[in-house]
Amino acid sequence: MAAEGAASPRLLIVFYSRGGSVETLATAIAEGAQGQGAEVRIRRARELVGPEIMDRVPGWRDTAARMNALYEAPTLADAEWADGLLIGAPTRFGTPSTELLAWLETLGPLWLSQKLLDKVGSVFTSTSSPHGGMEATLLGLYPTLAHLNLVIVPTGYGDPALFRAGTPYGAASASFGMERRPPSDDDLAVARYQGARVARVAQALRTPR
Ligand SMILES: Cc1cc2nc3c(=O)[nH]c(=O)nc-3n(C[C@H](O)[C@H](O)[C@H](O)COP(=O)(O)O)c2cc1C
Repeated sequence: MAAEGAASPRLLIVFYSRGGSVETLATAIAEGAQGQGAEVRIRRARELVGPEIMDRVPGWRDTAARMNALYEAPTLADAEWADGLLIGAPTRFGTPSTELLAWLETLGPLWLSQKLLDKVGSVFTSTSSPHGGMEATLLGLYPTLAHLNLVIVPTGYGDPALFRAGTPYGAASASFGMERRPPSDDDLAVARYQGARVARVAQALRTPR
């Protein structure tokens, strides 16, 4: 349950996920943030292709329908509301998925009006293989956070789980191809740490409302 109140930092978690790994990381991040008293909104970026393309991948339509029933689509108002943004996308050929990037591109009006200035930003991802591009995806998002005027909050090595999982740039998990392995306990510990850390930094930086 999200804590409410004038002093609570507000965090927006925006993710795209097809198979559920990034979704699971997003919910663990929310848990960590809520443990610090943050008020959290979780939103899922929507598909950019129609059903005729989705039907070529078994299960895609079903997982999208399940997640879309659980999570609203992100809006500009969500981003303006938040003191911090946590952005998660699966790795696609070594880069963040286009669904997530397309949503980031809608933030132009908030960039123009400096509405995101001094809010915090942090990123997370999932790959198939452990060396399939986690860092490339996460670091590939950092320039966008900088352009949006966000203060980047990495994971670093502030939690013991980071010596066993994740990356210093953000939480990550590997799903091991057709095994479709869900994030491990250590992956989730890193994600919870990321949520908690971003909540603390957002709280410290946020301007009074
Ligand atoms: C078009 C496409 C490109 C992908 N590219 C990569 C890649 O470069 N490296 C990798 O390890 N996995 C790659 N994957 C696998 C996904 O990143 C991986 O399955 C991830 O766990 C999916 O997250 P999700 O369950 O939240 O959708 C790709 C998957 C698709 C569909």
